[in-house]
Amino acid sequence: MLIRRQPRWALPEAMATPEAVYLDRRRFVAGGAAALAAAALGGCDRPGAQDIVPAVPDPSGDLYPVARNTAYTVMRDMTPFSVSSRINNFFEFGSSKNIAHKAAKLPVRPWEISIGGLVEEERTIAIDELLAKMPLEERVYRHRCVETWAMVVPWSGFPLKALVDLARPLGAAKFLVMKTFLNPELAPTQRQDWYPWPYTDILTMDEATNELAFLVTGVYGRPAPAQFGAPLRLAVPWKYGFKSIKSIVSFAFVEKRPDTFWEVVDSREYGFWANVNPDVPHRRWSQEMEWMLGTRELFPTRIYNGYGPEVAHLYDADDPKYFF
Ligand code: MTE
Repeated sequence: MLIRRQPRWALPEAMATPEAVYLDRRRFVAGGAAALAAAALGGCDRPGAQDIVPAVPDPSGDLYPVARNTAYTVMRDMTPFSVSSRINNFFEFGSSKNIAHKAAKLPVRPWEISIGGLVEEERTIAIDELLAKMPLEERVYRHRCVETWAMVVPWSGFPLKALVDLARPLGAAKFLVMKTFLNPELAPTQRQDWYPWPYTDILTMDEATNELAFLVTGVYGRPAPAQFGAPLRLAVPWKYGFKSIKSIVSFAFVEKRPDTFWEVVDSREYGFWANVNPDVPHRRWSQEMEWMLGTRELFPTRIYNGYGPEVAHLYDADDPKYFF
């Protein structure tokens, strides 16, 4: 008889839930039925997310596909859309990974983005106006989730630096604070007040203007469906995936940073820097290995997720704070 033993890096989904939240009785009671239902559905065997009809049509389809920037390629197979579009983390719509159908209710138009804080002039800009101004390109990036799974996705979008240039931050700006929409009517988990909504993440100015920091508007040569974080989402591939904030509505340049969403949820488990590092385990699991969504192929985790040449100079490699 073949007995399959789970190696220690193969996490059951529940383990990936932050401990503080997992242990919260209210959430445990409320989330238990949904988690059981998701398990019963078998996760990956759900119908393809390509069949899901969005709440509001995205008018930007004609912009895609955009030319691929061949400076950013990876030595791994692309994760098929049929896989990456139906296994998603988007806690606003629930803690299960099967949230594509729920996220599709997010109306991605009209969508206004505010740019403010320490800038020459505060402004609000509609997503389609922003798209018209920005240099769109495609980049194939590796994505490494703190939960140990990984994927390779062709993102379309523009460098975050282009938005920073548009914003014209003042010299005193040290951090860029990004926030996701807040709409508890639409996003059921936002009614759970033990999470610090809205989802917030932050980069230093050096990180935000690094060539790799990318704002995503499309995937696989088409506008991004909602579950990927439409209509505007960050991709910072050298950091754990939770830094890549979805469905952004505001950018604020500040001198002193507030805490991020995950620091407030559990600062012992999810630090600010979150640079991928195989030698720094998560408090509850090893980060030595990663496995690919879809194929479950295993690879050793790489420092900065393999993007050291582009970003290592931003950090003191001997200072452990940068790897948490
Ligand atoms: N952004 C928001 N607003 N809400 C989220 O729950 N999850 C993060 C990140 N951005 C998340 C988010 C995590 S944990 C990961 S791994 C990635 O989105 C997942 O992106 P994907 O669903 O496209 O794979």
